[in-house]
Amino acid sequence: MMPENYMPTARAGQRILFYEKIDSTNVQAKEEAANGASHGTLLVADMQTAGMGRRGRSWESPAGTNLYFSLILRPDFAPDKASMLTLVMALAVAEGMERVKPDELPDNFPMPEIKWPNDIVINGKKVCGILTEMSVQEGAIGHVIVGVGINVQKQAFAPQLVQTATDMETQWGLKAPREELLAHIMAAFEAYYKRFEEKGNLAELREIYNKRLVNLGREVQVLDPQGEYAGIATGINDMGELGVKLADGQMTYVYAGEVSVRGIYGYV
Ligand code: BTN
Repeated sequence: MMPENYMPTARAGQRILFYEKIDSTNVQAKEEAANGASHGTLLVADMQTAGMGRRGRSWESPAGTNLYFSLILRPDFAPDKASMLTLVMALAVAEGMERVKPDELPDNFPMPEIKWPNDIVINGKKVCGILTEMSVQEGAIGHVIVGVGINVQKQAFAPQLVQTATDMETQWGLKAPREELLAHIMAAFEAYYKRFEEKGNLAELREIYNKRLVNLGREVQVLDPQGEYAGIATGINDMGELGVKLADGQMTYVYAGEVSVRGIYGYV
């Protein structure tokens, strides 16, 4: 169904494994990686029967509607840098989405934005989630799986998701071609990945990430297991941590692995 090498990339998505139906592309990617799949191998499914979200949640994955994919990476850098790959992919997804939007735009056309660290939102509602998983052997990264789910076409969400989830078609009034969207995302990811790899951090990408950050300058509630607190989000630092200015003017930097943030009045 999906021709290989239609990707405008050197590595990312040059080998594609396509599944009409699978439990989870992340689970399958782990198996492929364990069997030696190379850096850039891309697994794509039309439907998942056990799509996984972050924090043990499930990911709704109906057929014929959305994009579900997992990219296998074999980076040379240290394991503590791997969580930043999720932010790199968030940037790539936002850029890929923008590339399939119509050329002629009304002034109020809603752009894809990033809710730190890695949800993509349009009009404040989530259209994409990213689940990054890593295997470490003897202190080094064996592989990283970056799994992405994008709500592309109009769909009915489960009651508990209706307030926070949406799809591109509902927001934009157009059916984005899934293969084209995927190709744009892979191209953007490869370019951003290179800049990330060169520096070993997000120094080169920080400014462009913060431009897309929906939380920037807004009050956020930090859901820290040690205790919740509120502050104003000031953007990410070179390590991808979110700067939060507290009421007394003090700055804290929030690490994505430990906590999540919510808007004070809702999801963003
Ligand atoms: C989130 O909770 O926001 C992350 C959702 C990630 C979903 C994608 S769909 C493709 C890949 N396979 C999975 O099982 N999960 C990820």
